[in-house]
Amino acid sequence: MEARAALAGGQARIDKQHEAGKLTARERISALLDDGSFIELDKFVTHRCAEFGMQEQKILGDGVVTGHGTVEGRTVCVFAQDFTVFGGSLSGAYAQKICKVMDLAMKIGCPVVGLNDSGGARIQEGVESLAGYADIFLRNVLSSGVVPQLSAIMGPCAGGAVYSPAITDFILMVDRTSYMFITGPEVIKTVTHEEVTKEQLGGAMTHAAKSGVSHFTETDELACIARLRELLAYMPSNNAEDPPVRASEDPPDRANEALDTLVPLESNKPYDIKKIILGVTDDGLFTEVAKDYAKNIVVGFARFEGRPVGIVANQPTHLAGCLDIDASTKAARFVRFCDCFNIPLVTFVDVPGFLPGTTQEYGGIIKHGAKLLYAFAEATVPKITIITRKAYGGAYDVMASKHIRADVNVSYPAAEIAVMGADGAVNIIFRGELDKISDPVERAAAKVRFTDDYKERFANPYKAASLGYIDEIIRPRDTRWTIVRALRTLKNKRQSNPVRKHGNIPL
Ligand code: HXC
Repeated sequence: MEARAALAGGQARIDKQHEAGKLTARERISALLDDGSFIELDKFVTHRCAEFGMQEQKILGDGVVTGHGTVEGRTVCVFAQDFTVFGGSLSGAYAQKICKVMDLAMKIGCPVVGLNDSGGARIQEGVESLAGYADIFLRNVLSSGVVPQLSAIMGPCAGGAVYSPAITDFILMVDRTSYMFITGPEVIKTVTHEEVTKEQLGGAMTHAAKSGVSHFTETDELACIARLRELLAYMPSNNAEDPPVRASEDPPDRANEALDTLVPLESNKPYDIKKIILGVTDDGLFTEVAKDYAKNIVVGFARFEGRPVGIVANQPTHLAGCLDIDASTKAARFVRFCDCFNIPLVTFVDVPGFLPGTTQEYGGIIKHGAKLLYAFAEATVPKITIITRKAYGGAYDVMASKHIRADVNVSYPAAEIAVMGADGAVNIIFRGELDKISDPVERAAAKVRFTDDYKERFANPYKAASLGYIDEIIRPRDTRWTIVRALRTLKNKRQSNPVRKHGNIPL
């Protein structure tokens, strides 16, 4: 019986899986978990379907391997869909197996990792399969914010097989062997006559760069599994715990002189914000999330003194670091994840404002930008904000400003904190006076005067500092030490939001 269960859909299908560059469900689980730690559940479960000759095709385990084990010594619940059994499609019995490990994870407070490789609802089972999906979706929703949920997509995932991952915290895809779509190319061709390859429709790069559905693209399955382990190391097992601390040799007060000259004095000149991030985190390490989507904002995990933090940073090399729809939704989701799981937020600000234009307005930048504002405002984890250069307009408020409960707000000396840049501001507030000057040379000279005056008054951090909106003006070289000290101070921060059923984040 044991050997039969291990062979699942049979050797020929296992060989086919390997030829496609894919591992089997059990191989994936053993790569994910610490050696010898896996305890399998429900190995002998079979489906209950009697239609379409299915009673003759009962396979032990029914296409999903479930159980629990450890990753770096910490318990995780896991399920791995087995494409060798009816294309990994989901039956009622299969859904019950997944629900059982999800319920266990909630009882014991541990993450759930799903290794997905499934053609969706098992067509022969009809509504029983749909009910099974709904049972899983419900558990995804109820587990959200209680235990971390990670989804690796490791094959063609269609229909219901993409909605459960969509509710989880992070989606990882394997380049060229994994796909996600609601309906495949064949159905699309029939319904809309549109022709599209499965790679274009739902390949890893499509979801990493275009739709923003996935957060990581990995070159092969082992790299994907290594990333799952890396991510789990940043997260607590559940929302009642703090994230795990890792020993670090990196001196907490390490000054980085190179940062003093990294940010150009010209406020429109781009520079790579990742250089600041890598220059201050423990050992220069940073796990970037969704790096190919909305590159104008950078989000990801790092550590200070071995303690995990979530980093959010405007990226001046893309769209000058403006906030747009995609950047706002990307960062909002990340901020909310960190807040769910007690991961402090470190925010680097260099933002000229929201991206103007009809595309953004018609697309709903108002409601999407509000998501980021909402997420930062409701977050009660320690919040540390460093303004490296521009903090203009509404985007200043949104990017973890003091006013929405950031705890420590500092800026570099050359920061500009104002309603808008000097050029735009002068054109508006001095237009009347400029219009009165008919001589173009005099007019240009007056404009320079007005601009300099505006810059002196507003394009600096001292006005904000004088009002207490900025706690300290720091030398860039001291950024790491400033963050470390703030994190130490805020280590036991406790803050809560008003009691309510739930807020109503603009969706
Ligand atoms: C039963 C299925 C199946 C399914 C695949 N198989 N999907 N069996 N139910 N949903 C079986 C195939 O019949 C085949 O069996 C084996 O799995 C491998 O499938 P292939 O098609 O040979 O593999 P491949 O060419 O790699 O294509 C994979 C695929 C394709 C892209 C996933 O199989 C496909 O499009 N499947 C249907 C997807 C789908 O529409 N699912 C229902 C979605 S509705 P044999 O014996 O021939 O090897 C849904 C509702 C939930 O999920 C909604 C909740 C919101």
